[in-house]
Amino acid sequence: MAGFPTVRPRRLRRTPAMRRLVAETHVEPSNLILPMFVKEGLAEPRPISSLPGVVQHSRESLRKAAAEAVHAGVGGIMLFGIPETRDETGSAGADPDGILNVAIRDVVAEVGDATVVMSDLCLDEFTSHGHCGVLAPDGTVDNDATLAAYAELAIAQAAAGAHVLGPSGMMDGQIGVVRRALDEAGYPEVALLAYAVKYASAFFGPFREAVESALVGDRKAYQQDPAGNIREALREVALDIEEGADMVMVKPALPYLDVVTKVAAAVDVPVAAYQVSGEYAMVEAAVANGWLDRDKVVLETLTSIRRAGASMILTYWAVDAARLLRA
Ligand code: PBG
Repeated sequence: MAGFPTVRPRRLRRTPAMRRLVAETHVEPSNLILPMFVKEGLAEPRPISSLPGVVQHSRESLRKAAAEAVHAGVGGIMLFGIPETRDETGSAGADPDGILNVAIRDVVAEVGDATVVMSDLCLDEFTSHGHCGVLAPDGTVDNDATLAAYAELAIAQAAAGAHVLGPSGMMDGQIGVVRRALDEAGYPEVALLAYAVKYASAFFGPFREAVESALVGDRKAYQQDPAGNIREALREVALDIEEGADMVMVKPALPYLDVVTKVAAAVDVPVAAYQVSGEYAMVEAAVANGWLDRDKVVLETLTSIRRAGASMILTYWAVDAARLLRA
């Protein structure tokens, strides 16, 4: 049957040059943000078994790895601190000599403005019970008491030199309180990346090992229900933007790409997605079994998250991916 099919989409897939010409989704190293862990008192970096290839850094190895990440061209670094001792209220978080604040100073001294230095603004790494806030007498997380603690964390992190703070605790009003605290303390230039849409996800599992969190219970009373509706997600981002968020995040990424797309369509600020520890562990486990091609799968996941509408991606593969993209 000559002349049929008349429509041949394969024409545009025929050669690498043709595919490159029509490609609409690009991943650049500058789109990638590397989460990094630093542990107080460590002399040597220590592997995290459920995140092969990721380590808890010592202060020294963190500086070196941050410089390497800059060299690879990553867009940013997100720092998480693991203190030697924890208490009920997470007091090490606001202590200028607390590990996270010390690490922010170290990294900023090392890399300056060559990349964007971000810090996780939450209490879970610092509390003995592992919750993202301070507890009320009945054991629930006390929203408003936690807000006061976040204001102190914010000022400590800004004083340490962080360029961007990432409030990740899912307390109501956290962005407004943190923004006001920063402005009043003389840090109007410090930006906020709001973890606006964050699900109570089982994909955070390996992260708990990474930060040695002994979480009692779960986070379902403050993180969102995976079965919750999209309007709830859009309301969270709208509130955060109204309260002063400069950028908003959806987390996790791959299982929530529908949410990324709808958030990106609804807002006029940059949208980030966090490819979380469980997403990384899942692929690494399959790679270790010889079941997946690591480099191809990594780039495919990042491309998909960008295609869904994220401008930035937090990913434990940031440096590896940046190198692959430049190769
Ligand atoms: C909270 C925080 C968590 C993650 C990032 N920030 C843990 C949680 O909310 O339970 C998880 C990141 C990951 O799984 O890679 N400080």
